[in-house]
Order: sequence, then C-alpha cells, then structure tokens
Amino acid sequence: MDVPFSRWHRAIEKRRSRRHFDPNLPIAPEALAALDKVCNQFTPFTDARSRLETESAESVFKGIIGSYGKVKGAPAFIAFIGNMDGPFVQEKVGYTGEAIILEATALGLDTCWVGGFFRPEVVASLVGVSNKERVLAVTPVGHALELESWEEKLMARFGRSHNRLPLSKLARGLPRERWPDWINGSLEAARLAPSAANRQPWGFDVQEDGITVFVRTSGPEFNVSKRLDCGIAMLHLEVAAGNSGCRGEWEFLPSPQVAKFKIRS
Ligand SMILES: Cc1cc2nc3c(=O)[nH]c(=O)nc-3n(C[C@H](O)[C@H](O)[C@H](O)COP(=O)(O)O)c2cc1C
Repeated sequence: MDVPFSRWHRAIEKRRSRRHFDPNLPIAPEALAALDKVCNQFTPFTDARSRLETESAESVFKGIIGSYGKVKGAPAFIAFIGNMDGPFVQEKVGYTGEAIILEATALGLDTCWVGGFFRPEVVASLVGVSNKERVLAVTPVGHALELESWEEKLMARFGRSHNRLPLSKLARGLPRERWPDWINGSLEAARLAPSAANRQPWGFDVQEDGITVFVRTSGPEFNVSKRLDCGIAMLHLEVAAGNSGCRGEWEFLPSPQVAKFKIRS
C-alpha cells in the first residue's frame, strides 16, 4: 500500500492521545472496515503487523493508581505485533503502528499508544500470535468523550504530555540556514511524534543527502524501547517529506543510530 502523504500529514497535527472513550458512540461500520483494511494492507516490513480487534477491548487495559495510563470504555483495540527474530523489529513496529494511528485519526477516531499498561497475554490470545511474535504495544480505538475527563487533564498536566522539545535541542549536523525546505517541515513533523511518557528520545543528524535518526537520550527504557518511539518519528518524518514532494528510502543502522532517510536524487 502506498503512503497517503497529505491525508496522514493532516492527521499528524490533529492526533492527540485520548484514554477515555464514549461507551454510547460506537465506531461506524464503514470506518471500522476502512481501518481494518489499512491494518492488513500497510505492511512495509515483514517483521511488523497490526491487528484490529472489536472483542473484549476492556479486558486488555489494566490501570494503575497514579498519573499514567488508564484506558476506559474503548469499543475496539489494535495490537502492534513484531517478529522478535527479525532485525530492527522495534523501529519497524513503531513505524507501522503510527501509520495505523494516523489513518484512525484521519477517519475521525481517537487512539492512544499503550506500551506498558496492558495485558499482553490477553491480547496475544485474542489476536493470535506465533511463538516468535510479541505484542509490543496496543492502542484503544473509538470516539473519545467530547470533553477531556478530569483524569485525562490531570495526566496531561503532570506528564506535560503535549509539550515538545524545540528543534534546536534535537537537530545537529548541517546548520539550519543551509537546510532545504523539506528538512524543516519533516523535522517539525517528527518532533510532534508521540513517545512513551513523552520522553522524545530522538535526535536528528541533518546531512546533504538525508537525515539520520538516532537515540539522543540515555537512561532506562521502562518496558518500552526508545527505538520503537524513534520508529514513530521516522514515519512522521517521511510523511512530511513526501507531502512536500521529497521521496526517499530508509536504511536501518546499528545503535545508537536508528536509520537514515536517504533522499532519492
Ligand atoms: C510507545 C508508546 C507507549 C505509550 N504507553 C502509554 C501507556 O502505557 N499509557 C498511557 O497512558 N500512555 C502511553 N503513551 C502515550 C504517551 O504518554 C503520549 O503519546 C505522550 O504523552 C504525548 O502526548 P500526545 O500523544 O497527546 O501527543 C505511550 C506512547 C507511546 C508512543
């Protein structure tokens, strides 16, 4: 499946994590069918896949007491699954999963990546996984309550979840005054990517022929790989580049680098 650049680019600005869903607003069958189709068709890497499930979504999410994580009332969920024998599986799952999240956003649905607080064994039995595969993350899908609940607002305030670091802290390499237009737009889109606990672990090395994404931060991963977050930023970067007419290919790289987006000449 080709990347619908302008559709997903518009969704980047619109997307926000939502955790509390309206139990009285089901997903329209056409939207569900469209999302299911993209889950099945958007498979740019053999080691990463996404599965939409409308049964037992409530049983997948476990809450904790505190400021991070409880999902309520979702009518459906999507599992993001990786083949753990495959190379670069974390970044591939992040990249593939974010495409599905942006498509859900474009369809008018709400989502929230959940990497920590869900029950992988419940998801695995609902969607079916092979012994090489692992469910690395999930998202609830549905229509969020029109107003953010007080818990969601509190979470956003404590986690400063919508704040993002400026590009001056994230980018290195070619000085900014020499960046072609597509680089600025692509890095602005990458900067808006969601990450676990909003930790924004990515950095961007700007070169004449492309951009290398790398893991900028040190410190513990807390159950969710920073390379998965970086895979999400890769998708944003490529969608924005494509939207401004600049196409390229990814080359995966060893740690602490993640991958280089090489523009097609
Ligand atoms: C890989 C990943 C895992 C996440 N895990 C959780 C989670 O377990 N619980 C939760 O409430 N939010 C989770 N989030 C959502 C982030 O907290 C959220 O994306 C971040 O704070 C930025 O806010 P925004 O998505 O509204 O822009 C996760 C996000 C990502 C990308």
